Amino acid sequence: MQLFFLTVQIKKSILMKECLKGGTAMKVIVAEDYAAQCREAADIVEKLVRENPQCHLGLATGSSPVGMYKELARRCSEEGLDFSRVTSVNLDEYIGLEPTHDQSYRYFMDTNLFDHINIDKKNTYVAKGVGDVDANLKEFNEVLNSRDTDLQVLGVGPDGHVGFNEPGDHLYSSAHAEVLDESTIDANARFFASRDEVPRGAVTMGMGGIMRSGCLLLIISGSSKEEAATQLLMTDEVTPKCPVTFLKVHKNAVVIITKELADKIGYKA
Ligand code: GLP
Repeated sequence: MQLFFLTVQIKKSILMKECLKGGTAMKVIVAEDYAAQCREAADIVEKLVRENPQCHLGLATGSSPVGMYKELARRCSEEGLDFSRVTSVNLDEYIGLEPTHDQSYRYFMDTNLFDHINIDKKNTYVAKGVGDVDANLKEFNEVLNSRDTDLQVLGVGPDGHVGFNEPGDHLYSSAHAEVLDESTIDANARFFASRDEVPRGAVTMGMGGIMRSGCLLLIISGSSKEEAATQLLMTDEVTPKCPVTFLKVHKNAVVIITKELADKIGYKA
């Protein structure tokens, strides 16, 4: 009897593996370390910018893409990678932070990327975090509806959030306001003087805006991302309880994961 159950279990897990490979178009790159991960990610962005100098980029904040932004800045100054006609829109912004606040996402983008490449800042959009939230969201949605991004850079929160689309019973398609999960406040507290200073809300691109992008580029590393990486790469589930799993149903999503994290979750390329 026990043997029978064991056989069924094994068959199920084999099926799951086959299903994962056949059921998703997601491409997974295992990078040797964070530096290699950043170079791989920069290669993908560079290819797009060289092929389409007027491309529209969806950009992300957080520590994950910082190394890629540095590499793109180097390629811009040393190798002639030209951003002069590129336009961009960012995923999200904290509610209540002025664009000049050193933890606002506008400030992050200026200091980590825009100040170091030849992009025209007038062509970069980060949603407003201060002023009337409804008016800000209306403007954000108009920007998103005027043009889909050719590529969307993504990080992921420890709870699986993308942008600030927090896990729950359902997700939203349009840009909207979110109350941040306690775990997200914990995760982002490292950037603020104290946990109390972390804003409790944010405006974010919805899952619709993200999924409409021509290409999704996820950069994932670090032990805090184990659960999200497992949900994404080791199960066949697509669930609002872990928003990053929606990458599995995008037709052109690329996941770049460090070898350390891939090994930890038992992922084999
Ligand atoms: C924030 C951002 C997300 C980002 C996440 C992960 O919550 N809103 O877009 O993906 O942080 O950040 P990190 O890359 O620092 O782990």
